Amino acid sequence: MNTMRISGGSPLKGKVRTQGAKNAALPVMASCLLLKGQKMILDNVPHLQDVETMMELLRSLGVAVAREGNKEGSKVVFDVPETVSWEASDALVRKMRASSLVLGPLLARCGQAVLPLPGGCSIGSRPIDLHLKGLTQMGAKIEIRNGFVYAQAQRLRGRRIYLDFPSVGATENLMMAAVFAMGETIIENTAREPEIENLAAALRSMGVQVDTEGTGCIRVKGVEDVHDCSERVIPDRIEACTYILAGIMTSGEITVEDVIPEHIDALLAKLEEAGASFSVKRHKSGNAVVVHPVKKLKPISLKTMPFPGFPTDLQPQMVAALTLSNGVSFVEESVFQARFLYAAELNRMGANIDIKGDTAVIRGVGRLDGASVKATDLRAGAALILAGLAAKGETRVENMEHVLRGYEKVESKLRALGADVAFEPNERER
Ligand code: EPZ
Repeated sequence: MNTMRISGGSPLKGKVRTQGAKNAALPVMASCLLLKGQKMILDNVPHLQDVETMMELLRSLGVAVAREGNKEGSKVVFDVPETVSWEASDALVRKMRASSLVLGPLLARCGQAVLPLPGGCSIGSRPIDLHLKGLTQMGAKIEIRNGFVYAQAQRLRGRRIYLDFPSVGATENLMMAAVFAMGETIIENTAREPEIENLAAALRSMGVQVDTEGTGCIRVKGVEDVHDCSERVIPDRIEACTYILAGIMTSGEITVEDVIPEHIDALLAKLEEAGASFSVKRHKSGNAVVVHPVKKLKPISLKTMPFPGFPTDLQPQMVAALTLSNGVSFVEESVFQARFLYAAELNRMGANIDIKGDTAVIRGVGRLDGASVKATDLRAGAALILAGLAAKGETRVENMEHVLRGYEKVESKLRALGADVAFEPNERER
């Protein structure tokens, strides 16, 4: 069990560089399964547990995966053989829900796929019914037996598919499934997260015509074959915003580099409303957000929504920030069923959060006090770290393995900002 000790209460200062986006890297890595005796070179791939898990899964299917140069490098080469296995291992898929993203490419390329139904997790049941419904509409025969999905399709047919909910994973799986389908596939009411555009760019670099239009409608023209490709992972907007909130919560002065401002508009708008002070520096070598110290945030209300709305992946971190505002804030979670487990942990640090149905009512307090708290999922863990950085005294965040799934080198990045953090003895950072 990884435990991070945080001695909080001092302002962060300095620069931090955003990692490649976990939620862009994972679908693009899965798309390499569309290749046949060809190669994908992917740049700016973050060093994360979830990325390692996806690498392991691809290797188990027969793909040779290696970081180019050295382990520390950010370029990864995927050497895909003529034939790959179409059965994904139970252990790996159960370890990471995003493993279900191999379903679309395997079905498109091999005409069949077998993979365990992903389990639920601490933020909700997380079914894949929308993925399976779309694939069925494209002509796949889907059977669910003993917790496994058995999918078969001689050749998928291009279809007009309407997503009942703009699911990120369903959008990505159907885009990849459409690559070798007969004719054009039009997916409507799709997710519009920036990570979708990153996947579309990767498919285009393979030779596939993908029109995203950015309007929630995606058109994919089926092709006979694809070719070697290379792509770069976009910056991780959720990691960037997490560090922006770290600067704000500690009344620090920090610069978060390699940010695409259009990807974090929702957060910046809400921070402006809350009276935070920051500036966006646009530069051809990359943009940055500079956070300036403020005494207290004003209370605000927000509701999480699919992009371009306020991201659900930032909800716990924003709630942590609002625990120190000078009033009562309301945060409604509309994407996942149960994404407030961390609130009780924050209350142990002196926060005053009441959960009423799908809304957190946050009454600002004068200060937070260090305590021993447990991370229940990736973003909940991030919220607890933020609270620990702002709290007086020592905080111990347990179950840090959740955080290491999505935050690259979190200990060294925080220390570079002057934070007094360390993994407890004989714990180690990947
Ligand atoms: C992606 O998960 C992200 N993960 C999540 O980030 C993110 O929270 C989520 O999108 C929403 O933005 C990756 O990209 C790897 P969804 P995904 O399908 O694709 C329901 C993080 O912290 N739903 O958009 O699983 C589902 O239960 C992670 O980095 C169905 O009902 O999200 C949920 O309530 C957490 N049926 C909602 O839709 C389906 O077939 C959103 O799910 C699919 C989804």
